[in-house]
Amino acid sequence: MDEDLSLNRLTEGWGSPESVELYLDRCQVDTPSKIVAAVWAHIRERRASVDTVVDFGAGDGRFARQGQYKRYIGYEIDATRCATASLPRGATLLPQCAFSAKIDDADICVGNPPYVRNQDLPEGWRQEAAACLVERTGVKLSGLANAWQYFFLLGLASTKPDGLVAIVIPYEWVSRPSAQALRNFIRQNGWDVRVYRLLDDTFNRVLTTSSITIVDKREGSGRWAFFEEGGDGSFRVLQTEAGSDRGVLKYSTRRESSASAVRAKRGLSPGTQEVLTLTEGERVRSGLVVDTDVVPCVTSLRGLDPTRTVLSEKVFNDQFRLAGAKCWLIRTDRKPSTRLKAYLDSIPSDKYQTSTCLNRECWWGFTMPDTPALLVATGFRGAFPKVVVNSIGARAVGSVCGIYGVSQKKRGSVAAALRALDLTEYIVPHSNGLKKIEINQLNTLLNTIAGEKGSSK
Ligand SMILES: C[S@@+](CC[C@H](N)C(=O)[O-])C[C@H]1O[C@@H](n2cnc3c(N)ncnc32)[C@H](O)[C@@H]1O
Repeated sequence: MDEDLSLNRLTEGWGSPESVELYLDRCQVDTPSKIVAAVWAHIRERRASVDTVVDFGAGDGRFARQGQYKRYIGYEIDATRCATASLPRGATLLPQCAFSAKIDDADICVGNPPYVRNQDLPEGWRQEAAACLVERTGVKLSGLANAWQYFFLLGLASTKPDGLVAIVIPYEWVSRPSAQALRNFIRQNGWDVRVYRLLDDTFNRVLTTSSITIVDKREGSGRWAFFEEGGDGSFRVLQTEAGSDRGVLKYSTRRESSASAVRAKRGLSPGTQEVLTLTEGERVRSGLVVDTDVVPCVTSLRGLDPTRTVLSEKVFNDQFRLAGAKCWLIRTDRKPSTRLKAYLDSIPSDKYQTSTCLNRECWWGFTMPDTPALLVATGFRGAFPKVVVNSIGARAVGSVCGIYGVSQKKRGSVAAALRALDLTEYIVPHSNGLKKIEINQLNTLLNTIAGEKGSSK
């Protein structure tokens, strides 16, 4: 009870109780003991002795139970985890928010910070953490930054000028545009970086390729090196962050993308696909009428026969509508009919407890997206993601993105030109061998193709 009260007190400025609960629920992933040991092994390689260690988001203090140091301080927001932890001598767990710590002289920062997507961060949490970091480092993280970026930067701010940060974070930080400010900060300071990409089964629950990332402030040579874990636990050196000697596919800048008539845009995030998109069965049961209440949409191309290159009426009916896929998006660009209103009113509120829905005046009121010329899956395993010509005017939702501004005549040839590309060595794997192309990487390819083929005429 006391611990619940303490958690409420610590998080009261973060946002609604639902958004805080969602955040805390997403945070609770513990680090396997062998990874904790591996982090300490990297530290030992670089430091003969360690005085002070900080751990932000320390959980049950498992990083304190391995490794040699004089003093360890872990910050953990959840007091129940602090209360039950068994700690060695010299270690303390403080039931406090990590961003309340005013430390700048730790030798080492260790840990495994929470992986919580930007859209699931309580607004107050983000504002407090961002303001604290701007004040301490001058760095303003991207609005798209995941929680671990804030903790990573906090670790860099809390270690002394020759200190070391050794943390478990997603491998993608080496290439994602949302982590650019963090990478620039490290580069500007000339710190050494080593990133060890871990096997995908390291964390069962988190679908992200993890890494042990080491930033050594002492070396100051500004070298970055990348390694990949093999099945036998050994590591091989990677030539670049993507693994090939050619490096990661370039991200087009906002200016380049907006100057181009042919553009990829992210799939709609309606807030909850569970109720704002429907299967054919759900639509029929709710009495919703095609075109008046709902329009066709594609939320995944995974089930689509790979030989299909056009999303025709027949393909849509056979492979989405009759296959039980989510294939209808509710219309928000007109006053809802009594049927649609009845459907939305019947949705229990626990079905839309996402920050996107909760931050809207009307929980389901997303802006209706345009109709793209092509639909592209952003996740893929082979040489290139699935691409189809959108001949039925389906909306792109979720991980399916849309390509806009291609004339009717050129749709087939742009899709074929994309399909002919092999991205195997240009994209950093995201999870379980799954690669993910980012919108601005797709825009780089489109700029090249559109340059070759002419655009929307
Ligand atoms: C991914 S878990 C890692 C726990 C532990 N360090 C481990 O490696 O197993 C992240 C932890 O951060 C805690 N946490 C989240 N936000 C926090 C904050 N603002 N201040 C302190 N701890 C926080 C969560 O409660 C959770 O226990």
